[in-house]
Amino acid sequence: MNKNIEVLIGSRTQGSAAEAQRLFENYREYAEMEHLYNAAIRQLTIKFEILNDEFKVKYERSPIHHIESRVKSAASIVNKLLSRGAEVTPASARENINDIAGVRVVCCYIDDVYSVADMLLRQSDIRLLREQDYIREPNYNGYRSLHLDIELPIYLSEKTEMVKAEVQLRTVAMDFWASLEHDLRYKSDKEIPPGLGSQMLSCANEIAAIDRQMQEIYKQIQAI
Ligand code: GTP
Ligand code: MG
Repeated sequence: MNKNIEVLIGSRTQGSAAEAQRLFENYREYAEMEHLYNAAIRQLTIKFEILNDEFKVKYERSPIHHIESRVKSAASIVNKLLSRGAEVTPASARENINDIAGVRVVCCYIDDVYSVADMLLRQSDIRLLREQDYIREPNYNGYRSLHLDIELPIYLSEKTEMVKAEVQLRTVAMDFWASLEHDLRYKSDKEIPPGLGSQMLSCANEIAAIDRQMQEIYKQIQAI
């Protein structure tokens, strides 16, 4: 494999080097794709920052605690395409993967998650592709978050491109659990042993109960 490509995709890519190399055959096309996803992340981040700033001005509070974002690495893009049996090209990546651009919006309270999501989805340039509500229906392991797969326009010099992104909205409490679970899963080589999995689930449920309690306390303070 070409050394530069190996550096870009890393050594953990499962598929054949030749397949991975196809993502980079037209390097310019790959670079243009990466630029689009970086632009999408910047656009989305600005949208959330503007909404948060408006809340600060109007209501003297911030529904958003913080925002994180990332563009999926080339190695992860190649692996995801291979695992789905899709072609390993930039065009196929844009077609088949929704989360190359990922923005995580960590909110203060549960109600903030839904109001920030609604405020985003009311914007006329945002198209919702898929919603997965892991707060109403948590994952088997206790994972909670609201996932929105969306599409938004990026205005380029000569054309407008519709770009997909995954927005994950969650509370600080949900983020606390998800971050540590991710860390533990990584440490135990991707799978948490079953006995510990049930402890993680009960932690998630206790954290969710505290999340609801904090929401109630906040409402009562607001009502005073
Ligand atoms: P994709 O097309 O890959 O998005 O498949 P999907 O839509 O079935 O996956 P989903 O959107 O449900 O989850 C994708 C992302 O959510 C992951 O990359 C994680 O960031 C996050 N996520 C989902 N489940 C878990 C979990 O159990 N623990 C943690 N820590 N994060 C999770
Ligand atoms: Mg997803």
